[in-house]
Amino acid sequence: MKVSPSLLSANFANLASDIEMINRSEADYLHLDVMDGVFVPNISFGFSVLDAVARICTKPLDVHMMVVEPHKWVSKVRDTGAEIMNVHQEACLHLHSTIQKIHQAGMKAGVTLNPATPVSMLTDIIEDVEMVLLMSVNPGFGGQPFIEHTYKKCAELRHLIDSTGSKAIIEIDGGVNAKTGQLLAAAGADVLVAGSYVFGTERPAERIQILKDM
Ligand code: DX5
Ligand code: ZN
Repeated sequence: MKVSPSLLSANFANLASDIEMINRSEADYLHLDVMDGVFVPNISFGFSVLDAVARICTKPLDVHMMVVEPHKWVSKVRDTGAEIMNVHQEACLHLHSTIQKIHQAGMKAGVTLNPATPVSMLTDIIEDVEMVLLMSVNPGFGGQPFIEHTYKKCAELRHLIDSTGSKAIIEIDGGVNAKTGQLLAAAGADVLVAGSYVFGTERPAERIQILKDM
């Protein structure tokens, strides 16, 4: 299993120490949650923080844009050196065009679905993206309980990917822990995002390892 710890639950008064822990850990990516207070009912951090984090993080950055009109920020995300830019299907009036822009900027493109958005929305875009991010909580906050319906959705997405020429990997975000992670692995997930499960303990690297071993 691949693991993408979410910085949202880190200690914002000492991000450097949490990023150094991630650098030393078995994590595959660092997940960065950008929120604008419009698409989601919360504001997290913007490009000055992303740039500072990117300078010291040795893992590929997996940027999750919880903002309206994410196409406006493609070049700013690219300038951080991010590997993957995830945009919400619900936030994109012209999703195909936004995916093209992300590719033209040299990044991998991910499309994210909120809990109420069906996998069938991806039918005409699945072969054009490198990642699908399924939200297993309503976006905006860390530490929420996992929405159980996501297991079925993940299996359905696995089937869609395997039955087309898609190379997309499946990432799940929200409420991931040892129990939900195990069931997500069985449902075909490739990457687990984890915020509070990783940072809400004295031994975060061990939590990353537990998810890695799934
Ligand atoms: C929520 C964010 C998540 C969040 C997950 O909107 O997209 O990445 O950090 O937090 P946990 O793992 O605590 O549910
Ligand atoms: Zn996220």
